[in-house]
Amino acid sequence: MRTLTSERLVLRPWEPADADFLLDLEGRWEVVRHLGAAPTPMTSHDEALASVHRRRAISAHHVHGVWLVTDHEGRRLGNLLLKPVPLSAGEPPTDPPEVEVGWHLHPGAWGHGHATEAARLVLDDAFARGLPRAVAVVHPDNLASLAVCRRLGMRHLGPSTRYMGTTLEVFELVAP
Ligand SMILES: CC(C)(COP(=O)(O)OP(=O)(O)OC[C@H]1O[C@@H](n2cnc3c(N)ncnc32)[C@H](O)[C@@H]1OP(=O)(O)O)[C@@H](O)C(=O)NCCC(=O)NCCS
Repeated sequence: MRTLTSERLVLRPWEPADADFLLDLEGRWEVVRHLGAAPTPMTSHDEALASVHRRRAISAHHVHGVWLVTDHEGRRLGNLLLKPVPLSAGEPPTDPPEVEVGWHLHPGAWGHGHATEAARLVLDDAFARGLPRAVAVVHPDNLASLAVCRRLGMRHLGPSTRYMGTTLEVFELVAP
């Protein structure tokens, strides 16, 4: 599991001791409201702990990962993921699977460019490791996230029902 560092940020593996922060993050409606077909805020420490373990398992992969975003003082800011994107029922999978990049920041950390900086860091690292392409799938009302896609220079492919059982705007970034 690798730790990545940029000018302002450290992206490190989630640890069991981070479960309270995860609950405070994903227990908030304003953080989860645009996620997936049926957004559901997290409600318990046990749920958060189980999610920490799933994040660690994904991060055993040589390219994929789910990182805790912190600043250089170790203050927890949010989550950055790079992993196979869930497909809607009946959608044919590709080989290799399509990989999504995603960001979820604590509201106290919004408005500073942290999501864009963290995503750039992870994408640069993944492309250097051989990832050919990443997508972002965004609810059409999620203006802040649509803006992150644009800041990252992702190409807008338009709306699609292929992912997560709902209609989402699809963006792609191809390895340089
Ligand atoms: C989506 C989300 C991560 C966006 O966060 P954000 O802070 O708006 O995004 P960025 O990190 O790119 O920050 C951009 C803002 O920081 C500002 N900024 C300040 N310093 C900056 C810097 N050094 N570099 C870049 N931007 C900077 C920008 O001007 C911009 O503010 P503006 O939109 O008011 O112009 C956040 O809204 C969130 O966590 N939402 C809930 C979870 C979610 O929906 N995730 C996406 C699912 S698809």
